[in-house]
Amino acid sequence: MHGKMMKDLKVLFVGDIIGEPGLRFFSNHIKHMREKYHIDATIVNGENVAKNGRGIIPSDMEQLKKLGVDVVTSGNHVWAKNNIHAYLESNTNLLRPANYPSSCPGKGVTVFSVNNMLVGVVSLQGRVFFRELTDCPFRTMQTILSYLRPQTNIIIVDFHAEATAEKQGLAFFLDGKVTAVLGTHSHVQTADERILPGGTAFISDIGMVGALNSMIGFKKESALRAMMTQMPHRFEVEDEGPFVLGGVVLTIDTETGMAKKIERIRFVADL
Ligand SMILES: [Fe+2]
Ligand SMILES: [Fe+2]
Repeated sequence: MHGKMMKDLKVLFVGDIIGEPGLRFFSNHIKHMREKYHIDATIVNGENVAKNGRGIIPSDMEQLKKLGVDVVTSGNHVWAKNNIHAYLESNTNLLRPANYPSSCPGKGVTVFSVNNMLVGVVSLQGRVFFRELTDCPFRTMQTILSYLRPQTNIIIVDFHAEATAEKQGLAFFLDGKVTAVLGTHSHVQTADERILPGGTAFISDIGMVGALNSMIGFKKESALRAMMTQMPHRFEVEDEGPFVLGGVVLTIDTETGMAKKIERIRFVADL
C-alpha cells in the first residue's frame, strides 16, 4: 500500500441485550466504553432487547442507532414481535440469521462502511439443540463468503448457537477466511477467547447485557420453579441490579482482514 501505514480497526461487539434494564445499562455505559477502547464501530446482538426480553421492535432499533450502534445481529427470538418483520424487509442494519428459509423477512448479511473501509457482518444460527430446522451453517457460510470476499476481507460472524463444539467447529471451518467468529445465545460468557492459527478471532460466547443475579437475564424464581415442577411458566426480565455487560473488542489488521487481538469485556456495575 505504497508504504502508507493502515490504521487498525477496532470493533466492539456486545452480547444479547436483555429487555429494558439491559438497554438502559447499555445506554448508560456505551459512550464511555467506546472512548476507553477507541472503538471505530459497534455491533450488538438485539434479539432480546424488547421490553419483555423477547424479540426487538422498530423503536428499539431507533434507540440503538442513536446510541451509535452500526449493526444489530439477532437469533432465534428475532421473529417474536410482528412489527419487526417489515423493518427487516426494508433495513440492512438489523440482521436475522442467514440460514433461515429465504422466504423469511430480512437478510443475514450486510456490509457497512467505517473509516472508508467495508465491514461485512453475518448473523448465523446453530442447529445443535435448536428446534428450528435451519439450513447447514457451514454450507451457508460458503455461499456467503463467495458473495462477501470480493467486497471485503473484514468479516465478522455472530454464531448464535448453543453447543460449544458446534461453535468451535464453525470457527475452525472459517479460520483464515473471516475476521472473527463470535458466539452468542447462551448469554453466559466463556473465557476461551483467542486468535486461531489462521488469524480468525474466536470466543464460544461473548455473554449478555442484563441483570447479574438472574438466569440468563430473567427472574431466577420463575425459571427455577419451572425446572422443579415441570409446569409451564412465563419468563420475566430481571430488573434489579447489579448488571453485567459482556462483549469483546476486536483489533483488526485492515490489510489482511485478520484479527490482531480479541479482548474480552465483562463489566459489572449497579446502574
Ligand atoms: Fe438471546
Ligand atoms: Fe437466542
